Amino acid sequence: MSGNFVLLNNAIVQSKVSIFRDKNCSCETFRKIAKDLSIFLCYEACKDFKLKSYPVETPLEETSGWKFESEISVVAVLRAGLGMVPGVLECIPEAHVGTIGMYRNEETLAPVEYYRKHHKNISEHNVLLVDPMLATGGSACDSVKILKEAGAKNISFLCLISAPDGVKRLQNEHPDVSIYTASLDDHLNDRGYIVPGLGDAGDRIFGTL
Ligand code: PRP
Ligand code: URA
Repeated sequence: MSGNFVLLNNAIVQSKVSIFRDKNCSCETFRKIAKDLSIFLCYEACKDFKLKSYPVETPLEETSGWKFESEISVVAVLRAGLGMVPGVLECIPEAHVGTIGMYRNEETLAPVEYYRKHHKNISEHNVLLVDPMLATGGSACDSVKILKEAGAKNISFLCLISAPDGVKRLQNEHPDVSIYTASLDDHLNDRGYIVPGLGDAGDRIFGTL
């Protein structure tokens, strides 16, 4: 995988991925780990965001503090992307939250959009697009397209589990979008599920199995 692909190859991350992909992992633990992993992904994705200085008065003297130069939007692909929002907001409480409603047609695996809402000035924001699963890449590519149509220029895609097909497709269609993931899995099965994967992320986060 090339330059704009970041796999969090870290012992804490890998142990958490192992726990939450287990089919016996409870809904409660699944949600908690989705949040934890989103914190790590967000931390990595924001590390080079531009900062601007401002004066801070400590009890002893005035010094320079730093804050983000641009505002930040986290945009969740519904439904499963909502499971990653708490982790991002833990890192960046002031972030704006947008949502794109999208589901996969089970026959064609093509994404179908049903809703979109984001900040009106998203074109000036750093955007963290979050969806736990990057499978065929259809949902991610369409979501990025929607954000670019709204003028967004600096978009990072954060996912918990990715498949090689989806990574390649997103890199081909949107080479300017950096991908951050906690796991690069082996392949897709004939129903477009990531293998070994974790099953249906939306069902596991929302307890609708
Ligand atoms: C899942 C997941 C992604 C999409 C990934 O959503 O959250 O949005 O599939 O697959 P793709 O890369 O092949 O497009 P799903 O359609 O299951 O909807 P849900 O989140 O509402 O359950
Ligand atoms: N969506 C999911 O929820 N899981 C997969 O493995 C692929 C798409």
